[in-house]
Amino acid sequence: MKVIWNNQLVERDTVVIDMEDRGYQFADGLYEVIRAYNGTFFTLDEHIDRLFKGAEKIDLILPFTKPELKNLLHELIKVNQLSTGNVYLQVTRGIASPRNHGYPDLAVTAPVVTATTTNVPRDKEKMEKGITAITLPDTRWLHCDIKSISLLGNIMAKHEAHKLGKDESILHREGNVTECSSSNLSIIKDGVLYSHPDGNLILPGITKLVLLKVARKAGIPVREEVFTLEQLKEADEVFASSTTMEAMPVIEIDGVPIGNGQCGPVVKRLQELYTSAVEAQCGKIN
Ligand code: PDD
Repeated sequence: MKVIWNNQLVERDTVVIDMEDRGYQFADGLYEVIRAYNGTFFTLDEHIDRLFKGAEKIDLILPFTKPELKNLLHELIKVNQLSTGNVYLQVTRGIASPRNHGYPDLAVTAPVVTATTTNVPRDKEKMEKGITAITLPDTRWLHCDIKSISLLGNIMAKHEAHKLGKDESILHREGNVTECSSSNLSIIKDGVLYSHPDGNLILPGITKLVLLKVARKAGIPVREEVFTLEQLKEADEVFASSTTMEAMPVIEIDGVPIGNGQCGPVVKRLQELYTSAVEAQCGKIN
């Protein structure tokens, strides 16, 4: 298994991460999860654009151009024969010693880049059946648009759901639903799709971006508006979205079924439209 380590492909067990890497000490870094189908990346440019935007927001000078990173990622999935699965890419600000909160001098600190691949088939059974969720206050920070590796708030929320035997946590700030612990959230009410507008309170999900685009194109009205916990619970359909989940029906929230407790017709249609969007880039998938 090869991985990316800085600007080359190496065997995974040859990688050395320094204990004073700022990613390790401060969670000072960014990441992307990018999906490939049939050995071809889906929405690679969008993921790379988001990484570059995040880097700009935290004054992290990335050690590659977009074409250089793309080439390296293409080489990685080719050498590992990734068919349908995920690439996890991470960039930290690099090694700085002694530990100091201030950003280190760029002349002495180079960012550390790593990336791995994992074959993961689509979970079609789950996409058909749906997932369960709980609601929780969103206790994360106010820069949720940055895909930071600092995910303690997210994993604490995920763990709360798992402790109750549920799949996901739906987060809210004073009753306004933001997103989930590792996915975006949208609802359908009277045929209209509602989703939290982009901004600092949610991650601008690439999957959401694709889904809203195909929905609009198919004539499904889309409103990027804040919605409340009450609206969530009265929704006809609810779905989470992420690179790994695609459009995932949420069939139960806080122990109460949504609609008839099954994947509804609009979400089913969105899944079909998403599949078509993937197939346009990556060929036929199942
Ligand atoms: N998570 N919101 C949060 C908090 C997320 O962590 C993610 C993705 C999303 C959806 O983003 P996208 O559609 O671009 O994957 C929204 C990834 C998959 C993860 O952390 O594993």
